[in-house]
Amino acid sequence: MRNGRLFLAGLAILGACLPGLSRAQTEGGVPHLAKQGNATQLVVDGKPFLILSGELSNNAATALEPMEPIWPKLVSNNLNTALVGVSWAQFEPDEGRFNYTLVDGVIAKARENHMHIVFLWFGCWKNGTSSYPPYWVKKDYERFPRIQVGEGKTVSISGPVEVLSTLSDATRDADARAFAALMRHIKEVDGKQHTVLMMQVENEVGVLRDTRDRSPAANRAFAGQVPAELMDYMQAHKDTLIPEFREVWAANGYKKSGTWEEVFGPGKPASLEIPVQTTVSLLGPLEHQNSWQQLHWPSDEIFMAWHYARFLEKVVEAGKAAYDIPMYVNAWLQQPNHAWPGTYPSGGPLPQVHDVWRAGAPKIDILAPDLYLEYFDSVCERFTRNGNPLFIPETSTNSANVLVAAGKYNTIGFSPFGIDGNRPIPPELAATYGILNQMMPMVMANQGTAKMTAVRLSQGDPPKRVKLGNYTLTLTYTGRNMHIAPQPKGQVDAPPQPGVGPAAPETPLEAAAILIATGPDEYYFAGGGMRIDFTPNTPGPQNVGLGDVQQGNFVDGKWVVTRQIAGDDDAQGEILILRPSTILRVTLYRFP
Ligand code: DGJ
Repeated sequence: MRNGRLFLAGLAILGACLPGLSRAQTEGGVPHLAKQGNATQLVVDGKPFLILSGELSNNAATALEPMEPIWPKLVSNNLNTALVGVSWAQFEPDEGRFNYTLVDGVIAKARENHMHIVFLWFGCWKNGTSSYPPYWVKKDYERFPRIQVGEGKTVSISGPVEVLSTLSDATRDADARAFAALMRHIKEVDGKQHTVLMMQVENEVGVLRDTRDRSPAANRAFAGQVPAELMDYMQAHKDTLIPEFREVWAANGYKKSGTWEEVFGPGKPASLEIPVQTTVSLLGPLEHQNSWQQLHWPSDEIFMAWHYARFLEKVVEAGKAAYDIPMYVNAWLQQPNHAWPGTYPSGGPLPQVHDVWRAGAPKIDILAPDLYLEYFDSVCERFTRNGNPLFIPETSTNSANVLVAAGKYNTIGFSPFGIDGNRPIPPELAATYGILNQMMPMVMANQGTAKMTAVRLSQGDPPKRVKLGNYTLTLTYTGRNMHIAPQPKGQVDAPPQPGVGPAAPETPLEAAAILIATGPDEYYFAGGGMRIDFTPNTPGPQNVGLGDVQQGNFVDGKWVVTRQIAGDDDAQGEILILRPSTILRVTLYRFP
């Protein structure tokens, strides 16, 4: 009897636990963001995941059959994820009628190819404009009002192109309903399998051809007070606000309330036309050089950032209520020839207005750069301020950049644009993705810690010194195919002699490597095109010898040596060269 009661009680506990347990397991596996040190990582099925991706051209997945030859291209070049657009027009051709065929087809094909997907929701805006909303939205300009620019015109890039205004609850709610339906469906078909990792919400939002929307509703809001939510956020974060933004507030007297122009200074007069480009001939060399990282007519850009953020917050909120996976918005960046708001989309999630986005749209997880600029590292720095996680949804195929982004800036992912195009994917990128796929557990275990960093070197750069673990590493550019000429000790600053190997390619390789200190005298290096020398930075004997130098691969997370390096390959134990696209494990010893 007693045992029977215990048995029943046990069953009851088991019954109470099982649903809880399975819920916890499902929730733990759902893609989400987690902090590790100063990094934020994407965690999928309980493990940190590095998205090694490419973004498909805008309409690549508007039919399934033409996608067939694309999948093998992605797989054979070591991509583990594809960024794929979903057009609102195709998803909701008639109001309230949703078509899941393409989304399901893309998920099925991704699974067949052991790949993941990040979907891009092309809703109200794509590159600032509104070409992806359904016909029933486009033709109803009364229910879904458009922006106005200049003195009452609609935006025109190459002919009349209409752009939906953020200042409409009807537009916002229609977009949010469709996005929620999409997320509900993704949860239904993928809530357990997690093929879909994240969502991009809209694409490169912001006003073009003018600094702000000048429709009647927008003008009324612009004449009103800065919303209390934004003012409160600014007061609460006064000491940590993005400097460019705080300067604007300071310049106008740190006001605690007021209209947009009282708090942030004058906007641009409607009658003042802006050019399409801010070239040197227009600005002069000094202004051209300086003006592309500053706010111009700040109240206009800040006003637009607030309204895009508030609109997208509602869309994201509706989507997350259906299925809560990480969601990001992407920015078309300000740049030297596009320095003024309106020459780039004004109000997008650019670094100078990140605080406005954080205040207006706290549910958005990541503010992401579409990073085509040559100033790759400084954009990464501006996009990781105040803990913003880095994700690069659009960029070029430069393989050095993915190493730097993953090893130094703790990126969640990297994704060159137009990866499905006719041009082949550069072999260096495929090889680097291969290396990073192998090393993912080690790289992710070290993101956000002081044990890992990355360096980049171009031909002609002086050597770089990096303190890492118990040694200072001196890194010298070698490029491809270096023949090692031994050099006297102590002359590590002199670049090694150009080699007698195969002819160098026409474009010199940009060298880059991830450097990881895995023990007091042990390192892993991945990438290449450089020589590495070591100086101890702890007390003890000051001469450093190369112990084991192993080239190899990680197979199922285990280090497998493919070549043990000594003799001619390391100048009789004196010079360590990390050749392009290789992984080395190196141990060191010290002697008097
Ligand atoms: C940036 C956009 O976000 C992409 O969708 C695409 O239009 C590219 N520009 C084209 O270069």
